[in-house]
Amino acid sequence: SADELHARIRAAKATLGDRAVVLGHFYQRDEVIEHADFVGDSFQLANAALTRPDAEAIVFCGVHFMAETADLLSTPEQAVILPNLAAGCSMADMADESSVEECWEQLAEVYGDLSATDADGKVPVIPVTYMNSSAALKGFVGRHGGIVCTSSNAETVLEWAFERGQRVLFFPDQHLGRNTAKAMGVPLEQMPMWNPRKALGGSTAGELGDARVILWHGFCSVHRRFTVDQIAQARIDHPGVQVIVHPECPMPVVDAADAAGSTDFIVKAIQAAPAGSTFAIGTEINLVQRLAAEYPQHTIFCLDPVVCPCSTMYRIHPGYLAWVLEELVAGRVVNRITVADDVAEPARVALERMLAAKP
Ligand code: 13P
Ligand code: SF4
Repeated sequence: SADELHARIRAAKATLGDRAVVLGHFYQRDEVIEHADFVGDSFQLANAALTRPDAEAIVFCGVHFMAETADLLSTPEQAVILPNLAAGCSMADMADESSVEECWEQLAEVYGDLSATDADGKVPVIPVTYMNSSAALKGFVGRHGGIVCTSSNAETVLEWAFERGQRVLFFPDQHLGRNTAKAMGVPLEQMPMWNPRKALGGSTAGELGDARVILWHGFCSVHRRFTVDQIAQARIDHPGVQVIVHPECPMPVVDAADAAGSTDFIVKAIQAAPAGSTFAIGTEINLVQRLAAEYPQHTIFCLDPVVCPCSTMYRIHPGYLAWVLEELVAGRVVNRITVADDVAEPARVALERMLAAKP
């Protein structure tokens, strides 16, 4: 039963003590979150992995790219464990290394030597990958002078990139790229979307126009469900409602909302609000429902009336958490996520650039 499962998790954690740390992303179900030592957005969890070099095991209740990142930032002796190996991210899967390499080659045909600097010391293109990408892609950007961003530091990271490059190739999430660049004043005409099905020919630089940010065609299937109509309906049903959405939502949704930000931004906005506030939230349902329960002084609901969980985050069932912890107690490491050294080295460079880029 659920109670037995919770008792097993608690018992295993008590036996392990400081030997294991459990990290939980905001989108995890409550039954997992209650066992997490740290709860946060993907940026905070990457930092949390750094704060516990003493722990033998980091049990990451989140998705695969987050566990890979924890492996990159942890010590070689630490084991990062993903309780269910099937917990991936469909957006991260939308950019694979070979497609990005191919894009890079074609950009070189358009812009010439991509490592050559102009009179201002800028290269033609800086690659920027969203945290929601494979370690291989973080390695790609590390090798090509690029950087990683999360939804909480995308603007700082794009500024970093514009200081070093004439333009940016942003992947995998077109929406985060577009919303962030727009907020920084980049006109939409200067944000063409890369389309691999209509690949550029060698001399068709005109197709990219005066590009500042070249967007990959990826998206999050959870966040793209939110619509402007849902926001209009929320404003009719709840006069005075504050609409906050995640920047993975399409641009018209972000424009129609009162604010947009990472999961941590959403949590903090609710924490700071006076009692009796009403919020319509455009992000994953487990977080929205937990906030509604934690802050009964407010009215908090999800913009989408049809429940929209992230199906891969949901694959971390408490049964898997109990299993991996009990295996640790028995001296066995299961479901370990390791990034190969040749990828890890440049990927770490890209992540460290992000961690060092100050707002
Ligand atoms: P955060 O960086 O806001 O935690 O978002 C991660 C994610 O997967 C959003 O879909
Ligand atoms: Fe990936 Fe979207 Fe799920 Fe986040 S919510 S892990 S971007 S599929």
